[in-house]
Amino acid sequence: MFVKLSALLLPLVLLAHAEAQNLNFIYNDGFSGRSGLNLSLDGIAEITPEGLLKLTNHTKQRGGHAFYPNPVTFKNSENDSAFSFSTNFIFAIQPEYTTSSGDGMAFVIAPTRGLPGALSNQYLSLFNPSNNGKFTNHIFAVELDTIQTLEFSDINDNHVGIDINGLRSVTAAPAGYFDGQYFKNLTLISGKEMRVWVEYNGTKKQIEVTMAPIGVVTKVTKPATPLLSLKYDLSPILNKTMYVGFSSSNGPFLTSHYVVGWSFRMNGQAQDLIASNLPKLPSIAGKKTSMLFTFGVPLISVSLVLLVVSGVLYVIRRKRKFAEVLEDWELEYGPQRFKYKELYIATKGFREKELLGTGGFGKVYRGLLPSSEVEIAVKRVSLESRQGMKEFVAEIVSIGRLRHRNLVQLLGYCRRKEELLLVYDYMPNGSLDKYLFDQPEMTLNWSQRFKVIKGVASGLLYLHEEWEQVVIHRDVKASNVLLDGEFNGRLGDFGLARLYDHGTDPQTTHIVGTLGYLAPEHTRTGRATTSTDVFAFGAFLLEVACGKRPIKTQGPEHVILVDWVFSCWNRSDILEARDQSFGTDFVAEELELVLKLGLLCSHSEPAARPSMRQVVQYLAGDVALPEVSLLGLSSSGLTDRHREGFDDYAMSYQSSLGKGSSHSSYVAESSLLSGSR
Ligand SMILES: *[C@@H]1O[C@H](CO)[C@@H](O)[C@H](O)[C@H]1NC(C)=O
Ligand SMILES: *[C@@H]1O[C@H](CO)[C@@H](O)[C@H](O)[C@H]1NC(C)=O
Ligand SMILES: *[C@@H]1O[C@H](CO)[C@@H](O)[C@H](O)[C@H]1NC(C)=O
Ligand SMILES: *[C@@H]1O[C@H](CO)[C@@H](O)[C@H](O)[C@H]1NC(C)=O
Ligand SMILES: *[C@@H]1O[C@H](CO)[C@@H](O)[C@H](O)[C@H]1NC(C)=O
Ligand SMILES: *[C@@H]1O[C@H](CO)[C@@H](O)[C@H](O)[C@H]1NC(C)=O
Repeated sequence: MFVKLSALLLPLVLLAHAEAQNLNFIYNDGFSGRSGLNLSLDGIAEITPEGLLKLTNHTKQRGGHAFYPNPVTFKNSENDSAFSFSTNFIFAIQPEYTTSSGDGMAFVIAPTRGLPGALSNQYLSLFNPSNNGKFTNHIFAVELDTIQTLEFSDINDNHVGIDINGLRSVTAAPAGYFDGQYFKNLTLISGKEMRVWVEYNGTKKQIEVTMAPIGVVTKVTKPATPLLSLKYDLSPILNKTMYVGFSSSNGPFLTSHYVVGWSFRMNGQAQDLIASNLPKLPSIAGKKTSMLFTFGVPLISVSLVLLVVSGVLYVIRRKRKFAEVLEDWELEYGPQRFKYKELYIATKGFREKELLGTGGFGKVYRGLLPSSEVEIAVKRVSLESRQGMKEFVAEIVSIGRLRHRNLVQLLGYCRRKEELLLVYDYMPNGSLDKYLFDQPEMTLNWSQRFKVIKGVASGLLYLHEEWEQVVIHRDVKASNVLLDGEFNGRLGDFGLARLYDHGTDPQTTHIVGTLGYLAPEHTRTGRATTSTDVFAFGAFLLEVACGKRPIKTQGPEHVILVDWVFSCWNRSDILEARDQSFGTDFVAEELELVLKLGLLCSHSEPAARPSMRQVVQYLAGDVALPEVSLLGLSSSGLTDRHREGFDDYAMSYQSSLGKGSSHSSYVAESSLLSGSR
């Protein structure tokens, strides 16, 4: 009994002193005391009834602070080296006038809670003219500065800076973020919510600051490239215990500076904030009405009533129009969840003009996300059954974490009553098949095709071997390969993909896929494996090199591409099988490699097919393709194996033929939607 009691008491005693070395806190559902300790506020800072931290109310020339109430340990007693820490928060700055604002705000680490003597306006409630820049301040801050103060050499009126002991930033950059290699501007005073990450690595002595709009892709995973990166040892700046919090100030213009959510961790990665749990910001619009009432003319009251009535009706209609389904279990997927309204606006109300294509399970629309100006493709999938929805969404979220330059990125989803909306990166050049088959308007030359082939191979290798789980694509084919702005091939349609943990045996399921790309053992056993994907990849190689579909109906005859390539080879002229549109403009060695590799991947024996890793090596020329003997392939029944599955599938094949698919490949329906789960 005694032992138990002391074991219980011990951690409490330790905690009561200064906050422990691995302090970890998160304010994800407001600052009103539900999820953590009440913040310590001063100046004009307040917690709104909704639970927002409002650092400045509408009061000019004043500032406010909010600090985590307890002191935080940044060093242990034996060592003067400051610990690593990590924090992220969501903020918004709402000025009264859209063009002029208060001075900005900052995340701050300071030796005292109140920063006594600090001034507002350009001093951001951090410093004053006599202490600015002094080493004795022991203050670290990341400023979100909305006024250009020449006195402190500010670069512009919309920047992020690292301040150490003073307002002349050690380093600064215009507000924005890196979306891949592209820099995108953000406007601090837009009133929109944005994320900021501040991280310090105590071993490397490195500070990194990253920003992102709240509404994009990079919602959970922060942008890979930080906005600011500074090699700086904070050990002399940070005392053993410090206070962490926020500061902000107004000048002559009224502005509200909000912190919406905040997470902090000492010696580790701060938790992600889940957007859907956060308190809601007041809307910026609707402040201009006051002028109307000053007229006070009774005449207009009638029209006012009418206005109000139609307004109410409008609101009700709108609510219905934008209704969506959100269940408790989805909350953790907040970041991947798009608002229906957002998608509706992005696609201009799913206008026909924005329609990219129809195929598979629904329609695909082009859109432009208003918050971030990111181009997207939205796939609307109608749902017959909601069974298994939880697993399906889990799968979607999981697929959303796949990142490879040869995969079409799934950005997120939205759920409505009978419908699921999937959001993807927009691929301006559409799907590969429209450049290959049926007298295309534009064809691709050999070097473009070879680049696409190599890209898709590396995407598939990533799915098979390089991600944390084995992902079997199940539907590799030209119409599921999309082309980005530079004509890089990107695999789309993880629709049929199922996730398997590495090392477990794939279960037998119903067969999904497309005839002509289905491996014989797949049609026999119903089992999809990485090597059934390799088989489909073989068919893909041949269709890209030959410009023909794997199976083509000519009258009552089915022409099987693999047989035809094989027969060309048999006549010692495998290159004859190529797409004649190349003319003489192709590299014979590459083309021959692709055709032979296509045949090798189409081997009826799974064990004889190469792995995707080998395929990538062959294509890169790192490893020579093994001598494939004609005899070896034919004796293994190469030319028969297509027919094996063929009879069984002739019917489904007929019905699946000719389905338009120009953009159908944004599909991410799982097998659930195809009825096989
Ligand atoms: C936080 O403040 C609220 C009201 O302001 C109060 O009811 C609550 O007890 C406080 N919580 C703590 C942990 O101090
Ligand atoms: C702003 O906060 C101050 C201090 O808490 C308060 O005196 C003032 O009335 C507030 N102003 C508004 C407009 O809320
Ligand atoms: C102090 O801590 C840092 C990292 O926290 C470590 O790299 C260093 O070796 C430590 N020094 C001593 C003297 O313990
Ligand atoms: C912070 O540390 C410095 C030097 O170590 C010391 O002079 C100063 O008094 C400390 N400040 C506080 C508030 O403890
Ligand atoms: C981004 O901001 C920079 C600096 O303020 C400006 O030069 C550039 O034109 C802006 N770009 C866009 C796309 O707004
Ligand atoms: C700090 O950097 C070192 C060396 O690059 C790395 O091993 C360590 O994981 C980093 N620590 C944190 C907390 O990120």
